[in-house]
Amino acid sequence: DLQEVKVEVKTDVAVPKPKSGEVLIRVVAAPVNPSDFGVWTRPSASGNEYVPMVAGTEGSGIVIASGGGFVANRMVGKNVGFVKPKNGGSYQQYVIVDAMTGVFPLSEGVKCEDAASHFVNPYTVCGFIDTLRKRHTGPLENIGLVHTAAASQLGQMLVKLAKEENITLINVVRREDQATVLKDIGAAYIVNSSEDGWETSLRTMMKDLKINVIFDAISGDMSGTLLNLLPNGGTLFAYGKLSGSTCNGIQFTDLSYKNKKFEGFLLTNWLLEHGQGLQTMQRINAATKKVHRGLSKPDGWSSSKYQDCNIDNMFEMLLENMKSTSSVTGRKLRIRFDQEN
Ligand SMILES: NC(=O)c1ccc[n+]([C@@H]2O[C@H](COP(=O)([O-])OP(=O)(O)OC[C@H]3O[C@@H](n4cnc5c(N)ncnc54)[C@H](OP(=O)(O)O)[C@@H]3O)[C@@H](O)[C@H]2O)c1
Repeated sequence: DLQEVKVEVKTDVAVPKPKSGEVLIRVVAAPVNPSDFGVWTRPSASGNEYVPMVAGTEGSGIVIASGGGFVANRMVGKNVGFVKPKNGGSYQQYVIVDAMTGVFPLSEGVKCEDAASHFVNPYTVCGFIDTLRKRHTGPLENIGLVHTAAASQLGQMLVKLAKEENITLINVVRREDQATVLKDIGAAYIVNSSEDGWETSLRTMMKDLKINVIFDAISGDMSGTLLNLLPNGGTLFAYGKLSGSTCNGIQFTDLSYKNKKFEGFLLTNWLLEHGQGLQTMQRINAATKKVHRGLSKPDGWSSSKYQDCNIDNMFEMLLENMKSTSSVTGRKLRIRFDQEN
């Protein structure tokens, strides 16, 4: 329960020094992702307390120093997106990052704060489309997928990129206002899971559009329901647990007689599918190019709308947003470090 989490903002932290191959980044903005706060309530080995951590996975900022080395030196002065800080998480004013594996220089014209979510969600969208293409066996015009919690930041990116890449997308949302958000950015197929008969609508749409792949962010009872609706031979990928629950209701007959597959999807597994070699570098470079192309255009596929906060009021705003009467759709929480509190 997030209510039990204790958040402390430290003000007496020395600016860290980068070692060779590392850079020091002054952070401009960091998004608050479900995968960030998903681990705040992970119990310690003893099970009695939560594991203390400096929160955050990704963000954007300006490289202000190098610890030496060709790649790190060339980054100084650049606006960058970053992942995996070495001195804790991304919710800090200064982070140290490995110049080779964690820093992504932004294209000319991309505002630093607009690139806060440059990695986790857009690269996952690239991973979905790549996975779908590799699995697809029928005619190319029938390539498509179903996506749940589809009005999420990731879902809105997927709507825009799928359209650019001629991929059919069925969006499952839970409220009408989410359907409106998606229609406004060009979504063609939308099913509202709070309406009576939504299961029949989704089953019919998948059949008519010859779609047999689902990416599900919800888990819980949704897992069994979706697997049941999936055409025989199809695949359900679980990639999130927004319901907060285990994957329930999976039927033996769906997996056996109906030959449906139930798999997990994780961004890092997709990125490192071929190990640490050249193929992985090429995969990352291709995704980076695509993400930055999207960030360079107003309303490009990888750009987002945010709700800004600062480090002092972030947790309060997060708790407010997570109330059942609130909505996070179209308001990804973004911590700004470049503005006065
Ligand atoms: N596996 C991976 O590698 C990977 C990578 C990236 C992201 N993810 C996952 O992708 C998901 C989306 O991330 P995001 O950053 O795009 O999220 P986000 O912008 O915070 O949006 C979350 C969306 O999900 C909706 N939602 C929340 N709980 C729900 C529930 N129980 N049932 C249906 N809808 C629900 C929210 O609706 P309201 O408007 O009602 O709040 C909102 O539209 C998360 O689960 C995240 O962990 C996984």
